[in-house]
Amino acid sequence: MILVTGGAGFIGANFVLDWLAGPNEPLVNLDKLTYAGNMESLAALRDDSRHVFVKGDIGDGSLVARLLGQYQPRAVINFAAESHVDRSISSPEDFIQTNIVGTFRLLEAVRAYWGGLTGIAKDEFRFLHVSTDEVYGSLAPAAPAFTEAHSYQPNSPYSASKAASDHLVRAYHHTYGLPVLTTNCSNNYGPFHFPEKLIPLMIVNALAGKPLPVYGDGMQVRDWLYVRDHCSAIRRVLEAGKAGEVYNVGGWNEKPNIDIVNIVCDLLDELQPRPDGKRYREQITYIKDRPGHDRRYAIDARKIQHELGWKPAETFETGIRKTVVWYLANPQWVQHVQSGAYKDWVDTHYAGAAAS
Ligand code: NAD
Ligand code: DAU
Repeated sequence: MILVTGGAGFIGANFVLDWLAGPNEPLVNLDKLTYAGNMESLAALRDDSRHVFVKGDIGDGSLVARLLGQYQPRAVINFAAESHVDRSISSPEDFIQTNIVGTFRLLEAVRAYWGGLTGIAKDEFRFLHVSTDEVYGSLAPAAPAFTEAHSYQPNSPYSASKAASDHLVRAYHHTYGLPVLTTNCSNNYGPFHFPEKLIPLMIVNALAGKPLPVYGDGMQVRDWLYVRDHCSAIRRVLEAGKAGEVYNVGGWNEKPNIDIVNIVCDLLDELQPRPDGKRYREQITYIKDRPGHDRRYAIDARKIQHELGWKPAETFETGIRKTVVWYLANPQWVQHVQSGAYKDWVDTHYAGAAAS
């Protein structure tokens, strides 16, 4: 048995589905079901008794302690977080609560549980913390990609809260000997991605005939990885990573945002042309930049490749095509996530955001 937190979110749901598609043991999925948690992403597991879903908060120490005692997992994988940079800028409080306080409470419960294990169960237990490349800050155009030795320079409330959680995880290893693993991954994309993030937002807006809002000059660079490649990296780190180590995960795939948006538009032109025969690129609109917007992220993924033999299976070309095809094939999922809380966010965040 393993315990996964945040398994109803974008990456967590992909991880849970992939895990249970293989010959793996059952898992307990603890998720608070915030606006970003979506049980519809896990609909394929409705009749699968190996998936035990528990609605709850990683910050609820007694709940986590009860689950650990009851299910005796051999590992905990922590995906649960507030994850959207723009939301962290407009209301940081939830990021501090979940990403810092929540991770702390989770670590405390896990430390108590692990402390009570003996023998092989204790030696082989792992706490895997899923983190981000954003903790390293922003790179100059020609600077080498982030290695695991890069200093932490988080710039947004989101990345600062993730950095704090990484430091806590590290400290629990150094001080208490808790066998932790940390992964710092670049931007993911793929199925079940909530359409407040760049790629799904562009797909959904394009199809709805809405503007495609590009922040600033659109030349900010991100390093894109297909989500199922991230999931395979996490499985590999869990299987063979060395306790206390950090592994950077990335796709060797740096692209400016405007290129990403153009690629999405061109794929939609091919797969679902606009009824008026015009190109989706015509919907692109440059709007006011994100405050403190990081200019460039890039991951040096040589450590995980050399030490654990992991590398991505998808190129950006294959992964983005699969992604666009998935959104076209799942209009109901898209329609349902665009209700209530999502609509309120889009209406408020993009209101009056025209470039000055
Ligand atoms: P997401 O926002 O899609 O999902 C987060 C999930 O966590 C949701 O299901 C939500 O309900 C749950 N959650 C939030 N607060 C919780 C709490 N207090 N207790 C229990 N559950 C809670 O996020 P994501 O994009 O799937 O990211 C997952 C993890 O991976 C995060 O830790 C994020 O920092 C990290 N990460 C994301 C990316 C990316 O590109 N999306 C890249 C690198 C790392
Ligand atoms: O790098 C890993 C991180 O990637 C994760 O840790 C975060 O959880 C995840 O949300 C993501 O953060 P970003 O801020 O890079 O992702 P987002 O999709 O919000 O934005 C990607 C880029 O696109 C960024 O430079 C901002 C820009 N953007 C975004 C939106 C939503 C736009 O130009 N327009 C938009 O409307």
